[in-house]
Amino acid sequence: MKHNRRTFIKKTGIAIVGVGAGLPCFSGCSTIAGRSAVPVAPTGSFKLVNGAISIDLPMTPSLRETGGAVKMSVLFDNGEKAKLIVVRSDTDVYKAFEDRCTHKGREMNFIHEEDILRCSSFGRREFDLSGTFIERPDDESLKVFSVTKEGDSLLVAVV
Ligand code: FES
Repeated sequence: MKHNRRTFIKKTGIAIVGVGAGLPCFSGCSTIAGRSAVPVAPTGSFKLVNGAISIDLPMTPSLRETGGAVKMSVLFDNGEKAKLIVVRSDTDVYKAFEDRCTHKGREMNFIHEEDILRCSSFGRREFDLSGTFIERPDDESLKVFSVTKEGDSLLVAVV
């Protein structure tokens, strides 16, 4: 039986999206949009309270274990938007960062085994947990937000 593209897709479920896929790209992170593997905070698990984002820990399963992380977007009254990644780096240690790589603004991943944040895009910039760009510490750092724990909530000071 002769196979054409349609029968190949039907039998395998695999579609070839273009001959350019997989080829090296020389334009860097502006054209390769990395996606973070960090889960998005569940609806209703966080809210803005007196200039801080209050995160309800029981409603945020990805922060239950050390090594977990969560991300969220917040829209302020003035129309500004902030994207955050919050990580649990030790038993009772939580840290929050702007989820925006200093290179081209792509999302970050938390690599607990190495205690770093790594850009999800092509350039893969890595930052330590103080927000410092490891390869060139004098370059721009990730924005870090202060986090305090109050009972079952985390308060991330964003304003
Ligand atoms: S966007 Fe290029 S290294 Fe992060």
